[in-house]
Amino acid sequence: MKPEAIQIIKDEHLAIAAVMYCLRYLVRQMRDHGEAPNFPLLHAILDYVVSYPDRWHHPKENDYLFAAIKERTHDADAIIARLEREHRDGHPRIEDLTNRLDDFERSGKAAPFYEAADAYAQSEWDHMRREEDELMPLAERALTTDDWQRIYEAFRENDNPLYGLKPKDDAERLYQRILALAPSPIGYARR
Ligand SMILES: [Fe+2]
Ligand SMILES: [Fe+2]
Repeated sequence: MKPEAIQIIKDEHLAIAAVMYCLRYLVRQMRDHGEAPNFPLLHAILDYVVSYPDRWHHPKENDYLFAAIKERTHDADAIIARLEREHRDGHPRIEDLTNRLDDFERSGKAAPFYEAADAYAQSEWDHMRREEDELMPLAERALTTDDWQRIYEAFRENDNPLYGLKPKDDAERLYQRILALAPSPIGYARR
């Protein structure tokens, strides 16, 4: 049976992928179909990325999943080094994206934001694929039932003072806000 921790991590990836899809969809609608920018929604998406993947999901992978694998095997050293680098790069990239969005909102300069938003969504997808397709099979071979249990407990926690106040609640609130603001093919059906 697959460790439950893997399912939790994949579920978190799904939520992040859905938000990345929404970001790309909005960029396409604005760039290719001349739709007016929905700045509250774009800001909600970037806030979500800061509070969830950047402050919550990636640190837990570093501290629990990657750390446990490194204790059991060196087979994953190269892939983990790459994933850790991508986690580190995530923060400056989202800051840059936020600055470009602010610029877009202030001065109407849209192209730099479109370009960076597309690239960010693509690299987040690629990153999650690498974790699922390349790292997880190695982890499944290397980790013990006890290791998986510790990872499961860490990922199940809703709150951890190390990572700030209730990040999962914040993320959930932001996720609901994104759904409420998103156009109907993505968000809630309009009444
Ligand atoms: Fe990651
Ligand atoms: Fe991940």
